[in-house]
This record gives sequence, structure tokens and C-alpha cells, in this order.
Amino acid sequence: MAAYHHDDDMAEIVISSLPVETRCPPFLLKQYGGFWMPESYLPGVAAAHMGFKPRPSDVLLASFPKSGTTWLKALAFATANRVKHPPRHPDHPLRRYNPHDCVKYLESSDHGDVFEALPSPRVLATHIPYTLLPARIKAEDGSGGRIVYICRDPKDALVSLWFFTKKKLAEAKDGDPPKPYTIEEAFELFCDGRAFYGPQWHHVAGYWEASRRRPEKVLFLWYEDMLRDPVGNVRKLAEFMGCAFSGDEESAGVVQDIVEICSIDTLKNMEANKCGSQRTFRNETFFRTGVAGDWSNHLTPAMAERLDKIVQEALQGSGFTFGAVAE
Ligand code: A3P
Repeated sequence: MAAYHHDDDMAEIVISSLPVETRCPPFLLKQYGGFWMPESYLPGVAAAHMGFKPRPSDVLLASFPKSGTTWLKALAFATANRVKHPPRHPDHPLRRYNPHDCVKYLESSDHGDVFEALPSPRVLATHIPYTLLPARIKAEDGSGGRIVYICRDPKDALVSLWFFTKKKLAEAKDGDPPKPYTIEEAFELFCDGRAFYGPQWHHVAGYWEASRRRPEKVLFLWYEDMLRDPVGNVRKLAEFMGCAFSGDEESAGVVQDIVEICSIDTLKNMEANKCGSQRTFRNETFFRTGVAGDWSNHLTPAMAERLDKIVQEALQGSGFTFGAVAE
């Protein structure tokens, strides 16, 4: 039995006593604070609560899985480091490493000193829901840094998660045939909130509410809007991160260069993303179609309607609606 003590906004977690969900391969999920968290990341979450020391200059990229995290990591990393690493440079880190190697997850390490060693300004990432973030990060005085959240239509997040899971299951071990995992199975679990960090809509709503309350500290981005206007969104991101593009940079096309190096076609074709892995996930599995609305090729209209209704009912009164891109 593992027990972890947190800062004052979280009770002690006794991991072995939490409700379990075993039907979301490859993860064993444990329900904590209203979310289905992967058990293997809970020690990292606990370590973040105990030892992570945020800095006012930090930028934390937050997301529900399969919502464009890899893209946001690439864009924020390229933007924050554009002076040291001009995006056109042939040796740019994003040409040599996967975006997940460039921006680490807060919950990926149970050794706080890994993050302590990073120079400021740090760009980190997380899938931890807003309500479960360490209080120090959410400090009202702004000492915990800034947060950028990327939100995606739940139907596309579900379909993306299903493909990601299927690819993982297809990596049969010891000659065993891959386990079947149908969209119907994935759909039922997702609708019930039983997904990696689910329910997705509560994850999104938590950050959306925070962005309304503290717009100077929490930026809320929409995956679909980023596809429509990547340049405008990168400008918004840079401004929010405190490193707006200068007139000279604009004239030199630096924003377009960042969009280009971070585009799915560019990243997908880089050697670093065709091989290698993150924990047990192959780098190539983070890049699939990268479009909005692919759900319509995999969910029936009845499934889509049912999920939309569940989300709508769950978020009633919150003021949040998927698809309503706010300025
Ligand atoms: P699809 O499976 O719908 O194609 P995450 O990074 O949070 O794991 O999300 C993965 C999703 O983002 C996948 O969606 C993937 O194809 C898409 N994606 C990855 N890199 C992208 C990029 N550079 N631009 C747009 N979408 C990208």
C-alpha cells in the first residue's frame, strides 16, 4: 500500500483504496477527486504536490489527453526558445527530438529536482485536472506562473484516444494476437467518464472556469480554432507567455516559421518522430490525422448525439459550450 501526503488542498491518497477501472487499456485507472487517473502517474501527481516549486515565469501547458498536447508542446517550446533556437535552423531541437522530449509532464517524475534544474522560463505540461493541481500553481497572487489549456471536441478526443489505444494493443507481446477494442467499447466507457483523466468535459470545464476567473494567468485555446488560424493563435500564445513577437520578427516571418516547424506534416516526417518512444508509447503514435471532425467517420449520428447530450447536461449552468470559441 502506498500513501502520499499532499499540500493542504489535497487529502492523503491511499492509492490501493481508490476505485479501480481495468477496462481502459493500457492503463489501470483509479478514481480520485472525481477523475479517472492512470495509476502509474499518481506517484508523480503526489510528488508534484509535495515538492514542485513553481516559479512566476513558468508556463504550464494543460490538456485532456488526445486534445493536441503534442502540438501545443511544440508551439510553446518553439515560441519560448526562438532566440536560442531559430525555428528555421536545421539543428532545431524539434528536428531532433519529439515534442514530449522537449517539454516534460509535471507528473512524469517523482523527483522534483529534475524540474528544479531547468533554467527559467520553464515550459512544462500536465494532464492533471485543474481542481487537482497543487495549490502553489494556482496561487491567486500569480506566483505559480501561467497556464495554457488546449480544448478539443470530446468526440474527436474520444476517437483519437480509441486509435491511440488500438495501436498500443496491436503491439502484441510474445506472439499473442492483439486484443480487440471496438469503438463501441471505447464509447461506452468514455460516456461514463471512464477514460484516461476523464470525464473529459469536467476536465475542460475546470480550466475554462479558471480562465474566466483569472484570464491573465490561464489562457484557454481551442484545437479547432488553432487549425483554422494557427498564426493568430501562436501570436496570442506568445503574448500570453510574455514574449510577444516584435515587428522585426513579424517582418521576418518568424511566426509562420514556428507554425511550419510544428505542423503535423513536418513533425510526422521527422526521423525523431518515426522512431523512439515516450515511456511505452511509440513517438509516431502521437501523430495521426490532425483534423477536426474525424469523429464523423467512426461514430454513428446516434452515438454523437448521445455523447453531445451527456456533455450538455453535465455542463448545464456552467456557461461553457463546446464549439463556442471565445475571444
Ligand atoms: P488525431 O488522432 O485526431 O489525429 P495529443 O497530442 O494530446 O496526444 O493529441 C493527439 C492528437 O493531436 C492526434 O489527433 C494527433 O494527430 C494530433 N496532432 C499531433 N500533432 C499535431 C500537430 N502538429 N498539429 C495538429 N494536430 C496534431
